[in-house]
Formats: sequence, C-alpha cells, structure tokens
Amino acid sequence: MISRAETHAMKKALKLAACGRGSAFPNPMVGAVILDRNGNYAGDGFHRKCGAPHAEVIAIASAGEASSGGTMVVTLEPCCHHGRTGPCTDEIIRAGISRIVVAMTDPDPRVSGRGIEQLESAGIEVETGLFSGEARTLNRVYLHYLETSRSWVTLKIALSLDGRTAAADGSSRWISCDKSRRRVHRMRASVRAVLTGAGTVRADDPELTVRLADTLPGRQPVRIVVSSTGDFGESWKFFRNPGRVIIAVPEGVAACLTEYTSIPGVDVWEFPTDSGIRGISLASLFERTAAEGIGSILCEAGSGLSTRLLKDELVDSVSIFTAPVIFGGEGRPAFELLGIDNIENAIRLENVSSRRSGSDFLTEGCVVYRSD
Ligand SMILES: NC(=O)c1ccc[n+]([C@@H]2O[C@H](COP(=O)([O-])OP(=O)(O)OC[C@H]3O[C@@H](n4cnc5c(N)ncnc54)[C@H](OP(=O)(O)O)[C@@H]3O)[C@@H](O)[C@H]2O)c1
Repeated sequence: MISRAETHAMKKALKLAACGRGSAFPNPMVGAVILDRNGNYAGDGFHRKCGAPHAEVIAIASAGEASSGGTMVVTLEPCCHHGRTGPCTDEIIRAGISRIVVAMTDPDPRVSGRGIEQLESAGIEVETGLFSGEARTLNRVYLHYLETSRSWVTLKIALSLDGRTAAADGSSRWISCDKSRRRVHRMRASVRAVLTGAGTVRADDPELTVRLADTLPGRQPVRIVVSSTGDFGESWKFFRNPGRVIIAVPEGVAACLTEYTSIPGVDVWEFPTDSGIRGISLASLFERTAAEGIGSILCEAGSGLSTRLLKDELVDSVSIFTAPVIFGGEGRPAFELLGIDNIENAIRLENVSSRRSGSDFLTEGCVVYRSD
C-alpha cells in the first residue's frame, strides 16, 4: 500500500531526476527522496553525472540519522554492482532504511531485479511500479542506449500545411513562426548534439547553435554534419561558430577537408562505406556518438537525410511543426520515397502530443516501425 506522502515523494524524485538530463548519460537519470519513520520529508538527492555519487547515496547523506527506520522513494531500482561507485544496495542496508518504493526495475543486466532481491533479503520491504510509465519516459534515452548502444535521435521538421519543407527554389526561411523558432532553440539546448546533412549546409549555411538570452558560452550542443563527398559549397557559418563540430564522412574523404579541420573545434570522423550504399552507416555514427557520451541528437535536415534515417529505422521520435502556409506541388517534400505502398505499411507514432506553438502546431511522438 502506497501512502500519500510516498506518492508526493515520487513526484518530487522524478523532478529531481530530470536535473541530470544530458549530464547523467550513459547512466540513467535518478532521483531519490527519504521520508523519516513518521513519513515526513527527511532528505533527497539526484544523480548529477556519470562518475558522481548516485542519488540514493546523496539522499541518505542529506537525511542523516533520519534514514534509519525511514522510507526511500526512488525512480529506479538501486544498483547492486561495483561500477565507478560502490553498490547503492549496501549503502541503503547500512543506513537502516526499512522500506523502499521504486518506480521501475533497472534493465541493465548487472542489476535487473538483483538490486531488489538484495534489499528484500536484508529484510527491507520493497514496492515497485509507482509512476513506472513516467519513469520510463524520463529515462527513454538511457533505456534506448541499453537496448541498441546508440544515441536517441529526434527528427525535427518545419512543414507547410501541405507537407512541404521548402519552396521550389529550396528557400525555407522561415516556415515556422517566431515562437516555434524560440522553442527550437530550447530543443537544441536540451540535447547534446544537433545533426544535419550536407545538403542543408550547402543550401542554407545554417548556424544550428542555441541562441537564447541565457545561453552560456561553451554550452552549445555539438554540431554534426554528414556528407559522402565533403562538399559544403561556400558555407562557413556552420563550421566557424563557437562549439564542437563533427564532420562524418566515408573513409578517404578526410584528406580533402584540411580547410575545415584547421578551424578550432572541428573534427572529422571517417566511417567505412558499405558496398552498395551511398555514404556512411548512420547506425555506426550513432553508436560512436553514444560511446562519446552524446545521449540524444536533434536532427534538422532536408528530405535526403531525413528519408535515409527513417528508412534505416534510426528516427526514435519526431517533433513536427506545421505552419499556416501552402507551397503547392512545386515545394520540396519532407521525405523522398520510403517504399510505403499502402496504409498498413505507414510509419506511425505513439505517445503523441499535439499543441499550438504560436501560429503553428507542434506534433510530437515516438516512431513505431513495423517489426516484419
Ligand atoms: N523545413 C525544414 O524543417 C528544413 C530543415 C532543414 C533543411 N530544409 C531544407 O532542405 C533542403 C535541403 O535538403 P537536402 O535533402 O538536400 O539536404 P539534407 O537532407 O540536409 O542533406 C542531404 C545530404 O546529406 C548527406 N547524407 C545523407 N545521408 C548520408 C549518409 N548516410 N552518409 C553520408 N552523407 C549522407 C549527403 O551529402 P552529400 O551530397 O555531400 O553526399 C546528402 O546529399 C534545403 O532547401 C533546406 O532549406 C528544410
């Protein structure tokens, strides 16, 4: 039986966990609240970044003596293995916690139910499942990484009412309204990297930086561009703006990019090419970004890269702005051919939300790919 105080504490723990967004990866975001033996708030903590103390340990330290005989309310099953820090289960048992309320079990194979088993064996009462849906959504980047070893990719597109991303001449500035564009800056600020294709760099010379009043220098997301040729035309802003830039190209192309690599912060990543496929394996790119601590990526590209990502089933969620403007059939479509021949095979979204964004509509959801 979950008490009102525990329900309230779990809401607080979920909010605290979110403070580790971006920095906790590849670890999960975790928040913990301790209630004393009378059910009163005694302390809390969250996991700030990989290698830093876990939420449970910080919460125990902040609650002090009140942990003994108290309840811990935590968003994820406590770890029971030695990583960069010791097992949280040992700390919880040592602190004399008598009850623990956990939102979800940790699918990490090193934990996966064993944390809960250890706590129960020590005589601690364990309840699981409170706000498990919210906890899963909060940690979707971590859960995706455990399953795929890749970064989470969100495809952001600004569309006309008739589903076009640019007019016939390629001009697309600006389809969406001021409010939506400010929202996009906040979206960029919430991810570790922004991705585009060489086509957009050649056409628009985009900055793809965060330009919000409170953006601190050095807090820009990494900018990644993919190209099979290394041809970026006369565009320089993308490369010369502050922040790290990664140019992802097939093996052998880096040699032509010395003009770019001489710019501070610009790196080239080369990938082997698969025979029969133009360009690089985007799955390999996202494995490498994840290995470098980039948990989530916002893709802002034209139809070429967006289509390839969808075909390769690498788009995890979409954020689509629809603006009250019509370009007609001459306009550029959002996607090239996807091989969808009937409605049964359409790509669908789940967990969809739709809301106004100034004069636009923003639809967001996770992509569902057919399993057969
Ligand atoms: N409305 C919107 O939300 C929005 C957003 C962005 C862009 N746009 C518009 O979209 C238009 C540009 O569209 P686009 O299709 O040309 O651009 P794009 O999708 O941004 O870039 C396509 C290019 O990306 C590279 N690429 C894609 N997959 C690759 C892979 N697997 N490996 C290596 N390189 C890969 C290729 O570059 P190489 O040719 O160098 O090999 C390809 O030509 C512009 O008019 C722009 O204004 C609209």
